[in-house]
Amino acid sequence: MHGKWWKESVVYQIYPRSFCDSNGDGIGDLRGIIAKLDYLKELGVDVVWLSPIYQSPNADNGYDISDYRAIMAEFGTMADFNKLLEQLHRRGIRLLMDLVVNHTSDEHPWFVESRRSRDNPYRDWYIWRPGRDGREPNNWASLFGGSAWQYDEATDEYYLHLFSKKQPDLNWENPRVREAVHEMMHWWLKKGIDGFRMDAINLISKAPGLPDAPVKTANRYQFPGPHVFNGPRLLEFLGETKRRVLSHYDIFTVAETGLVTTEHGLDLTHEENGPVNMLFQFEHVEMDMDDSSDSPRWNSKPWSLLELKRIMTRWQKDLEGKGWNSLYLSNHDQPRAVSRFGDDGRYRVESAKLLATFLHTLHGTPYVYQGEEIGMTNVAFPTIDDYRDMETRNMYQEFVEEKGIDRTVVMAIIHAKSRDNARTPMQWDASVHAGFSAGTPWIKVNPNYSEINVQRARTDPDSVLHYYRKLIRLRREHPAIVHGCYDLLLEAHEQVYAFTRTWKNERLLVILNFSPDAPVFALPSHIHFTNKELLIGNYSVDTGEDINLLTLRPYEARVYRLR
Ligand code: NOJ
Repeated sequence: MHGKWWKESVVYQIYPRSFCDSNGDGIGDLRGIIAKLDYLKELGVDVVWLSPIYQSPNADNGYDISDYRAIMAEFGTMADFNKLLEQLHRRGIRLLMDLVVNHTSDEHPWFVESRRSRDNPYRDWYIWRPGRDGREPNNWASLFGGSAWQYDEATDEYYLHLFSKKQPDLNWENPRVREAVHEMMHWWLKKGIDGFRMDAINLISKAPGLPDAPVKTANRYQFPGPHVFNGPRLLEFLGETKRRVLSHYDIFTVAETGLVTTEHGLDLTHEENGPVNMLFQFEHVEMDMDDSSDSPRWNSKPWSLLELKRIMTRWQKDLEGKGWNSLYLSNHDQPRAVSRFGDDGRYRVESAKLLATFLHTLHGTPYVYQGEEIGMTNVAFPTIDDYRDMETRNMYQEFVEEKGIDRTVVMAIIHAKSRDNARTPMQWDASVHAGFSAGTPWIKVNPNYSEINVQRARTDPDSVLHYYRKLIRLRREHPAIVHGCYDLLLEAHEQVYAFTRTWKNERLLVILNFSPDAPVFALPSHIHFTNKELLIGNYSVDTGEDINLLTLRPYEARVYRLR
């Protein structure tokens, strides 16, 4: 009988390139990760998710794979991988691997063959179309900017790439592609890995006929949205993958799914017939994007706590008892959570702890992104030359060179939104390059490393790090955190997010002040209790305090057990 251990787990995401460099080439590697396993054990996480470590030309830092069964040379060897897996398991930590199968690298042998000739046996492994009136086959924009089609002179046709032109989309309509993916998954699972994070997986089924996207902006290319996300055969393809592969192992899967509703969420994660176990939805990390603009990713609008409550509550309630949520505020594609949803200046520590409390007390499996546990912040490199992310660089090119937008304006957007905010090296200590590497890091270290680093956090009992450890421990001690039913309180409060989690005879009360002010929290009258116990909080609290009416401190977080 397969257990549901993944519900009880906390996952830690490693972005290997930026985690720890063992050989001084400036690039994080597998041996570097092995060297830090005791740190992860001490933190208390149950699962490590590794962003891709497969062979790749690194146009998109490993999300462009040229050999699914080889380790990227910069990261080490298969022997290093085997050792990492063994060392993780020895510590009781499971391993989640990234599965990137919506696309491959254009340097993958399948694509090298595919582009050779129109009658090559691999031609139909990718999505090729003739041009239309001397231009691209349709008006789809790539999610990384520009057209989603690349012209290939050798055969006078275009191939589809929803991400960069170095990432051609696989043709999942072709059963041979699906078989090859399944075989590869078996190969890794047989090595003993514990599951997959499925990259951009709800893009694998495209609308039949690849129709033009509705024209909504003045841009030449339009967001292909519903024509590529959650396509007609998505559940069938994933159901087949579950039947042929996943169901044969005691593992779990998390699907990365942009543009999903909770109905999709239920179809995908339904306890009995959903093909995956949980998903990463994007609604809460898209709250601050301006949908009315030409490029919402890069045009911000302020987010509001009321909207955050609406979004999270909808996901909590709609999946309750039927599907399962993942909980995240940051990853390698998002700016740092404390800079975005908290305050990375005066209240950095308080607000990082507040966000952590939020993440760890909702219903679902929490994901901690490397550095989040010490409250790492966004970075503001002065020029575009310091940025490494292709998406960021493409955007700069488009905004400054093509659209003529002022450089300072563009840099300010990059400072707020670039994915490189999350990709600066992990800050281990106050030595040169933050102890990440003895060489020159592939991307610069955030200059605040002398203040924000693991070594310092370890010795400070009030650090964000110790707070994470305690939160992770609480999960084991209180089944209500894992299983409890979620009920929102004070729905209309603009600064305080409060809710209860109830499981059997245990009830937890979570009070979160998402503001730098001192709002009043009034306990709703339907919550009765005779005893209260503070389980965790980010300020010291007088045990005798009356919680029926509280004046909260900036970014204050408290979790009580009520009886
Ligand atoms: C989502 C990944 O998280 C991101 O880093 C990558 O660029 C795209 N998918 C394409 O694989």
